[in-house]
Amino acid sequence: MKFFVDSADLEQIGELNDIGLVDGVTTNPSIIAKSGRDFKEVIAEICKLVAGPVSAEVTAVEADAMIKEGKELRKIADNVCVKLPLTMDGLKACSSLSKAGIPTNVTLCFSPNQALLAAKCGASFISPFIGRLDDITLDGLQLIEDIRLIYDNYGFETEILAASIRSVNHVKECALVGADVMTAPPNVIKNLANHPLTDKGLAAFLKDWEKTGQSIL
Ligand code: G3P
Repeated sequence: MKFFVDSADLEQIGELNDIGLVDGVTTNPSIIAKSGRDFKEVIAEICKLVAGPVSAEVTAVEADAMIKEGKELRKIADNVCVKLPLTMDGLKACSSLSKAGIPTNVTLCFSPNQALLAAKCGASFISPFIGRLDDITLDGLQLIEDIRLIYDNYGFETEILAASIRSVNHVKECALVGADVMTAPPNVIKNLANHPLTDKGLAAFLKDWEKTGQSIL
């Protein structure tokens, strides 16, 4: 499973990238607003830092304007992936940009039928939001499972990018049902390494090693 970081925080993206855990980055208008940075400037910096796709979202709501914005965003760097909302206009823009060879990420997906439409329109990625479905007591993970089945039934190449990931359990569950990619905030990715038995075991090993009086270097 590919790991994308759902953030515009250069320091945190860089830290995870240095560990080897970053296959791409996703942003949205809320994340950009939270960063307090200039949109194009921060996307350019992330694109330099990370080799994989960096999702930058259009803010127009009408297809032609989305296409113009998408082409403008794509000028920032070769690894910009244009993020489009799952509306009929977004789908029209997705078809057009995909035909022009521009990678697309169709976002705000909450149903299997929406994911089917995105795949038919040539989306590179579909972003089902699992946390937001769980928030309203629906089953976010079931959506990932349903999309996996539909895409596999017809051989769609659109990658399932599990989004709105809020916990380490979300990550595990998405991996178990075969999401191609997951995007999570940096703290969730860091928490994946934590286990109390690892900490306890390491402390015991180090204590015993100290007793030997030896050193490796
Ligand atoms: O990638 C989409 C993600 O940013 C949404 O997450 O936590 O705002 O539902 P959340």
